[in-house]
Amino acid sequence: MHKPSQNELETLLEIATEAVMTAGVILQDLWGKLERIEEKGRPGDLVTEADKTAEAAILGILHRRVPQHQVLAEESGLLGVAKSDYLWVIDPLDGTTNYAHSYPIYAVSVGLLIEGIPQVGAIYDPFRKELFRAAKGLGSTLNYRPIRVSKTTELSNSLLVTGFPYDRQETQDTNYPEFCYLTHITQGVRRAGAAALDLANVACGRLDGYWERGLSPWDISAGIIILEEAGGKISAYDESTLIIESGRLLATNGHIHHVLSQALDEALPWLQNFYQVKPF
Ligand code: IPD
Ligand code: CA
Ligand code: CA
Repeated sequence: MHKPSQNELETLLEIATEAVMTAGVILQDLWGKLERIEEKGRPGDLVTEADKTAEAAILGILHRRVPQHQVLAEESGLLGVAKSDYLWVIDPLDGTTNYAHSYPIYAVSVGLLIEGIPQVGAIYDPFRKELFRAAKGLGSTLNYRPIRVSKTTELSNSLLVTGFPYDRQETQDTNYPEFCYLTHITQGVRRAGAAALDLANVACGRLDGYWERGLSPWDISAGIIILEEAGGKISAYDESTLIIESGRLLATNGHIHHVLSQALDEALPWLQNFYQVKPF
């Protein structure tokens, strides 16, 4: 297994940073000026010229700086050298629905998997001018200052975040029972609409936990390493090892990981029971 040196990781982190900052300027420039908003297939799954222009800029940077690496980009698919152990995973605009409605929660996310493991990540929120970065073993930062996850140990004291998949009209696995139950037993569950920022906000302690299904590798690759390096924990819902391609992830400050995993399991029976008892 290839273990990159600290020098190499620092260089790769600089490349990720250049990519997210460049795309961030493009997103800011196009903010509120969109002329075309298209649906990608499923209702509500949007793509705009901002997504495409930002992605083209990131691809240009990666092509110039690491032409020997492979790239998976949300709008362009898999590109580059198939044999490479290095896979850059790009979301040029995470939170497209928010962006298209001028709701200011969105980000650029650039992660790097080496032999399938997230090792470098950068997420930039152009609206708040917040840059989250991490590389394996080098810690996580927000605007170049170290960040850590929260110390919350009880679900009843926690503030969580989640999201709802674009396929929610085609499946019973909607996340609605989980959202209701966790809203009932915590201080709140937010639905911010940008998975990369959800992970970044758990990493810096603003939120205590996050779960979601139906995610794509570009939503989470950068956020995983940023959260891990900030002391957080990531797994599948049942606490087994996360498989990125499964798109189903539980991410917490570590302290509430087990109880949140259990609560996700309890959600459906709780909701069924809730509606069977007499109305208040
Ligand atoms: C979406 C956002 C949203 C999440 C969706 C993602 P996009 O990404 O991260 O929070 O709930 O599952 O697809 O489409 O805005 O890049
Ligand atoms: Ca996304
Ligand atoms: Ca996107």
